[in-house]
Amino acid sequence: MVLDELKLRVTARSLAADGVVLIELQPADGEILPGFKPGAHIEVQLPDGLRRHYSLCGDPDARDRYRIAVALAEPSRGGSAYMHQSLNVGDVIVTSTPRNNFPLVEDSQRYQFIAGGIGITPILPMLRWCEANNRSWRLLYLLRGRARAAFLDDLAPFAGRVQTHFDDEAGGVFDIGAALNDVARDAHIYCCGPGPLMEAVEQAAADRDSAYVHFEWFTPKDQSALANTPFTVILARSRREVAIPADRSILETLQASGMKLPFSCREGLCATCETAVLAGTPDHRDQILTPEEKQVSQSMMICVSRAKSPSITLDL
Ligand code: FES
Repeated sequence: MVLDELKLRVTARSLAADGVVLIELQPADGEILPGFKPGAHIEVQLPDGLRRHYSLCGDPDARDRYRIAVALAEPSRGGSAYMHQSLNVGDVIVTSTPRNNFPLVEDSQRYQFIAGGIGITPILPMLRWCEANNRSWRLLYLLRGRARAAFLDDLAPFAGRVQTHFDDEAGGVFDIGAALNDVARDAHIYCCGPGPLMEAVEQAAADRDSAYVHFEWFTPKDQSALANTPFTVILARSRREVAIPADRSILETLQASGMKLPFSCREGLCATCETAVLAGTPDHRDQILTPEEKQVSQSMMICVSRAKSPSITLDL
């Protein structure tokens, strides 16, 4: 067992909505679990080597159990199908300790949350935190249909601050641009959901200070139109130079050369492969770093990002 790994037993599972399974996990050894902050997730190791990330949607103060909710993807790449069809009460799985790429800025007075479908999961602990800390908040919860809406009972007490939208009942998708016009400029916007929703919010919030707009992506953007060119990676600590071909990532190339490097999603979504940049200009293609972080370029995700300069020096 690696230091930041946990062995968790499935102690309950139930259907939270059509195609959404709610899973409760407790420590297999009876120990107290590491705490987490709203927005955190765990990485679940699946039997065939797949790793998937699921937001923690339970109470951060409950140190004896975690809750995750998994939507069955259509089509599933393996992770959600396993969680729905093969994982049973009593099974033990290996996960990471909680990680957080979507932390809540706690010194704001106003929050606008936007959840699309299963994107509600990281938002739920944020709502509880806002309630406990007397913050002003509103939630837009956008779904294709009512039957797929998980956690409506949990949200019922906050009816005045929760606006739901069901595409099938409304006859179309929600007008996110119009809705954001009414959101105060000093409100922090947190958005999690399918790619088209995230891109619509990105566009609608493009004129806002990006420090106030936060995203948790769980699918990669289509980057197939981006051109790849070869470049050289200089490994400062290993004192080596490695040529990165146009058709391979830095991560793949370094792994093929025998290096053992941390990675998980390989899609620029999880930050596991984040590597410090010492010189050169990265071509950032991840969905983790903020625009400001990409500007400063102190680090990059080597599973997807490349170099704009002929060479780039990494702290490896
Ligand atoms: S492995 Fe997930 S961001 Fe690179």
